[in-house]
Amino acid sequence: MRKPVIAGNWKMHMTCMASKDYMASFLPLISDITNDRHIVIAPPFTAISTLADCVVGSSIELSSQNIHWENEGAFTAEVSPIMLLEHNVKYAIVGHSEPRKYFSESDEQINKRAISAQAHGLIPIVCVGESDEQRERGEAERVIRRQVEQGLEGTDPNVVVVAYEPIWAIGTGKTCAADEANRICGLIRKWVGCDDLIVQYGGSVKPGNIDELMSMSDIDGVLVGGASLDPKSFARIANYQTN
Ligand code: 13P
Repeated sequence: MRKPVIAGNWKMHMTCMASKDYMASFLPLISDITNDRHIVIAPPFTAISTLADCVVGSSIELSSQNIHWENEGAFTAEVSPIMLLEHNVKYAIVGHSEPRKYFSESDEQINKRAISAQAHGLIPIVCVGESDEQRERGEAERVIRRQVEQGLEGTDPNVVVVAYEPIWAIGTGKTCAADEANRICGLIRKWVGCDDLIVQYGGSVKPGNIDELMSMSDIDGVLVGGASLDPKSFARIANYQTN
């Protein structure tokens, strides 16, 4: 039984002060949520400690937006697994398309990050997805398969989340059609060969499309950017309903 993971990726948004205000609005809106889903927030590193205090006594779990493979060392700007564990972080996003694009993050580095997360008892959320041009050229499946296979190499698929995030759907308002997102999520699970692999969809997820996405057989949750920044809209997403 795959328990869906509903995750909000705050990206480079939210100060500590704004995080506290957010949680004061958000927590009452999810207090009746059932235990059939995980609710995860990935704040920027500077707000993790604040969030860790805010979520005590709630069902919310924390994710980082990245993780390094060493416990310490001369790696300016990186954050290590033991630093995250100190704040009760449970998940680590790796391989998001933004660091892939802006910082040339490679599949090899992403894989090292995923292995490091698992070695420390954290669950990596490995992001994959094709660009507009790759989809138009008919290369989407090949690109995604390479990212999945290289990103997950040597990991235990039972304790990993894959987030299928087509780049053309991120922050554009263009959601991938639910049946196409479902098809790709199913393919990813098949390629990995693990029936219990959790596969999320991400890209312009909103209160208006969450119920349809979560009704799909192969979509086990969502990774939400923009709509997770508003407590009311993320609460609606967390409270998704399926028929
Ligand atoms: P949006 O929900 O803003 O499209 O962002 C998706 C995303 O990149 C989540 O990681």
